[in-house]
This record gives sequence, structure tokens and C-alpha cells, in this order.
Amino acid sequence: TKITAFRKTLLSWYDEAGRVLPWRKDHDPYHVWVSEIMLQQTQVQTVIPYYQRFMTMFPTVDALASAPTEQLMRAWAGLGYYSRARNLQRAAQEIVNERHGQWPTTAVELQSLTGIGPYTAGAIASIAFGEPVPAVDGNAFRVFSRLMEIDADITKPQTRQLFEQVIGEVIDPKRPGDFNQAIMDLGSSYMTAKQPDSEHSPVRAFNQAFLDGKELNYPVRSAK
Ligand code: ADE
Repeated sequence: TKITAFRKTLLSWYDEAGRVLPWRKDHDPYHVWVSEIMLQQTQVQTVIPYYQRFMTMFPTVDALASAPTEQLMRAWAGLGYYSRARNLQRAAQEIVNERHGQWPTTAVELQSLTGIGPYTAGAIASIAFGEPVPAVDGNAFRVFSRLMEIDADITKPQTRQLFEQVIGEVIDPKRPGDFNQAIMDLGSSYMTAKQPDSEHSPVRAFNQAFLDGKELNYPVRSAK
């Protein structure tokens, strides 16, 4: 089917050309979580050295939970949005003190931790625990709206659910974390917002908006 062909094309490309990044060396939920929080408002190339220093300073969830807040803030200096760091430490304390160091392993349960919303929960659940759930960020909105010419307004809160449903049917249940990260890589290489290079994209044949010459019309945002 088209879905199985898409999965195979995407994951073969990811295996050959996916980015090699420090947080992709293993599937440790602590590694996935810290990287995803850093990547929320900061570019990959900026995050890399911060991530590496952070893991040297706070190698485990226990180390983060018990770190002096000042030391944590110094490690975060330059990344901005300091509430991310405070929430990171709160959630680390929740895991250590309230859950005896046990991570929740599903996207639904992960969202009960401080600072973990639907996107981060989907990323951790799929990458670290293999749960076949989407991680819907700006990349996923852009890539899937173009592939399938989805013209729902992405500024509307309900639209996330639509994308979660659609991606939930396409995601590879055998490799959900790689599938989600492949979408991120596609969204930051061939399927960018302003200067896409869809003619050379590995999934060009599946990109309906490109085939119709309309990719810059997607994703749809309400005029305001
Ligand atoms: N942006 C957000 N999450 C990412 C990830 N896991 N890899 C690369 N870029 C990302």
C-alpha cells in the first residue's frame, strides 16, 4: 500500500542520511527528554554543545533532581527561556521523589510531569519507549499538511488532534521513534517553510502539494 511504501522510503532515507546527533546515540528517556526540551525554542546547532555540557554536569535524572538551582541556571545560561530549566528540575524531582525513579512509559502518563506537553510526551514515548504515537511539532504540521494537502488551520487548537489522528495511521509501528525523527529531519532539510527543495526530496512522489505545485500554500494558518 501507499502507507507501507511511504514508511519504507522515509526510513531507508533516514538510515542513510538522518542526522547524527548526540541525543540519538541511545534511547535513554533522560537523554531524549533533555534534548527535546532544549530543542523547543533553540536551533539544533546551538543545542549540541549545551546538551553535551549538561550531560557532563547532570548525567542522570537523580543528579538533575538534586542539583543546586544556581548551578542548573549557569548551565542553562545562553539558552534562554529559563522556565524550561526550572520545569526540567521539577519533573526530575517528580520522577525521583514521587515515582521512585521510574519513568512513565506512555505519552498519556508522561504528560502528568511538569513541563511535558503533548509534543514532548509523544517524542519521549516514541523514541525512548517505542510507543507508536506521533510527535506533532512545526515540522510535522508542515510535512503532513503538504504530503496530504491538509488545509485545516494549524493555529486552531483542535487541528493538533486531526494531525495526531492522521499521523497515527501513517507512523511505522515497528519504528515509531525513527519515523518521528525522520519527519523532523525531512522538515529541516527538503521540506522547509520558505525554500523547500521538494524536487530532490526522498518522498517527492508522496508529496501531493508539491506534485500540484502548491506546497508553499501549506501549512494553512488563519489570516489575522
Ligand atoms: N527537533 C526537535 N526534536 C528533535 C530531534 N529529536 N532531532 C532533531 N531535531 C529535533
